[in-house]
Amino acid sequence: MALNLLHTTRFAFGGWFLPILAVLLVSLVPVSNGKSLLKRPNYDLQKIKEEIASYKDVANKIMDFVVNGSAKGQTYNRLALFTDTFGNRLVGTQNLENSIDFMLDQLKKDGLDNVHGENVTVPNWVRGNESAMLLEPRRYNLIMLGLGSSVGTPPEGITAEAIVVSSFDELTNRSSEVPGKIVVFNQPWVSYPVSVAYRDFAAVHTAQLGGVASLVRSIAGFSIHSPHTGWQDYSDKVKKIPTACIAVEDAEMLARMAARGTKIVIQLKMQAKTLPQSISRNTVAEVAGSVHPEQVVLVSGHLDSWDVGQGAMDDGGGAFISWQALSVVRQLGLRPKRTMRMVMWTGEEVGGVGSLQYYQRHKANASNYDLVMESDMGTFTPYGIEMRGSNDTLEILKSIVELLGPVNATTFRKGEDGLDVSYWEKDGVPGGSLLNHNEHYFWFHHSDGDTMSVQDPHSMDLCAAVWTVVSYIVADLDNMLPRN
Ligand SMILES: *[C@@H]1O[C@H](CO)[C@@H](O)[C@H](O)[C@H]1NC(C)=O
Ligand SMILES: *[C@@H]1O[C@H](CO)[C@@H](O)[C@H](O)[C@H]1NC(C)=O
Ligand SMILES: *[C@@H]1O[C@H](CO)[C@@H](O)[C@H](O)[C@H]1NC(C)=O
Ligand SMILES: *[C@@H]1O[C@H](CO)[C@@H](O)[C@H](O)[C@H]1NC(C)=O
Ligand SMILES: *[C@@H]1O[C@H](CO)[C@@H](O)[C@H](O)[C@H]1NC(C)=O
Ligand SMILES: *[C@@H]1O[C@H](CO)[C@@H](O)[C@H](O)[C@H]1NC(C)=O
Ligand SMILES: *[C@@H]1O[C@H](CO)[C@@H](O)[C@H](O)[C@H]1NC(C)=O
Repeated sequence: MALNLLHTTRFAFGGWFLPILAVLLVSLVPVSNGKSLLKRPNYDLQKIKEEIASYKDVANKIMDFVVNGSAKGQTYNRLALFTDTFGNRLVGTQNLENSIDFMLDQLKKDGLDNVHGENVTVPNWVRGNESAMLLEPRRYNLIMLGLGSSVGTPPEGITAEAIVVSSFDELTNRSSEVPGKIVVFNQPWVSYPVSVAYRDFAAVHTAQLGGVASLVRSIAGFSIHSPHTGWQDYSDKVKKIPTACIAVEDAEMLARMAARGTKIVIQLKMQAKTLPQSISRNTVAEVAGSVHPEQVVLVSGHLDSWDVGQGAMDDGGGAFISWQALSVVRQLGLRPKRTMRMVMWTGEEVGGVGSLQYYQRHKANASNYDLVMESDMGTFTPYGIEMRGSNDTLEILKSIVELLGPVNATTFRKGEDGLDVSYWEKDGVPGGSLLNHNEHYFWFHHSDGDTMSVQDPHSMDLCAAVWTVVSYIVADLDNMLPRN
């Protein structure tokens, strides 16, 4: 901290003032570890912008190396080897742990520093066999996937008449029809944050009114008859009933049948169950800082996935551009002043447990976290960076993003909340995420469609270039980013 404060104040005051100021400021900091979580009003924004402009050549060198040089195609090739070898990686499975062992080995071979796993306690939900058989008006196997954390049915299944609703409001209106029924939700696709409420809470709302199971239209912007799974949440106060998603096409068909007044009967069988918690690991690697090794710029994505597809998009892409940021810096022989740390989270899909437990373990050092970045919304063609932080931090980061012209990713946006690394932001640590042309992300999300075929080698290079330039420059600036 002391070093940091000295650097920070250097611009505004002569050297004579520093010892006095440092002592004064340190004595003003309550007990926050002696670290500089306080405001730093005395730096010179213009000077920092000039400092950033001086990184133009190294930024160009990084982008050229990633996009046209010997790292060209590397991110895609590394991810393809990984996903083709391991396929999908649900927490609780030995396969995920094997893939983490493989990653740790690869990261060591890549010459990165301090490569290690950090234990995380994860829920262990097991899908088992499952089916939703339409019995009336005709026999037909509905395309379905149970939702994460759902309970199972008795072995003989649950056979019941179904009603179809298109919203929670309609369910409430028709509450007298719900007891003993399976409720099918055919809510329209609006957007992920809006529509996902149906996946999350269908079971709770259904059980509250006496329904016996819920089937939710997949939360997807487009469908080729594929179910899209995901986590769902029970309430302690409400009976736990089985809940699954069904393909958009099947939800629409059931809605048409219901609208005609046709009686619908479904037999739902699910072996889903929750086993005792197990241990997984966050995967960590670093390029150790040369001047302030204790200060950290963190880049991240998650390595776990749902148990369908290959988890190549969600979130193999985000995890592997984060590896690439460190790998490129190492391959170019660069060594930033601060430590660049990559974390591939585990347990993101089951409630963000890996990133939460990482925060709990490391939060005492929050004042040493300079910037925390996460990519978990696709690695399609990038167009910029979204950041959260104080106004001055945003100004500083904006001028870094302006260096991304060669990869056409100069859009800078002040972000809202909702990021998985938000715990750090509450402690005042600036946060960032990748802006990319992910308009089709929810076509593939949590489905068998999430494979390497969604990824494009050149787009991944562009994303890796953005990720590397931003994280490297922030890690190498004379000062940490100013806090709120
Ligand atoms: C890569 O090479 C192409 C063709 O020479 C050039 O147009 C492009 O600007 C280069 N990209 C980067 C990031 O250097
Ligand atoms: C991590 O978990 C494994 C069991 O999976 C255990 O053997 C090991 O001691 C744990 N390590 C730490 C540091 O807690
Ligand atoms: C699940 O179904 C498969 C194929 O129908 C069968 O081989 C397997 O034994 C079933 N598993 C359980 C636990 O019933
Ligand atoms: C609920 O019922 C009220 C009163 O009958 C009606 O006006 C409203 O449109 C219904 N809402 C839905 C979503 O069905
Ligand atoms: C906090 O940072 C110090 C200095 O880098 C390091 O030695 C220590 O292990 C860190 N503690 C945690 C919990 O991350
Ligand atoms: C930050 O900027 C916003 C909009 O530019 C402004 O409304 C706000 O007052 C600023 N906050 C501070 C602390 O200067
Ligand atoms: C640069 O990005 C913008 C917006 O993302 C896009 O409209 C434009 O076509 C891109 N330019 C090139 C040369 O790819």
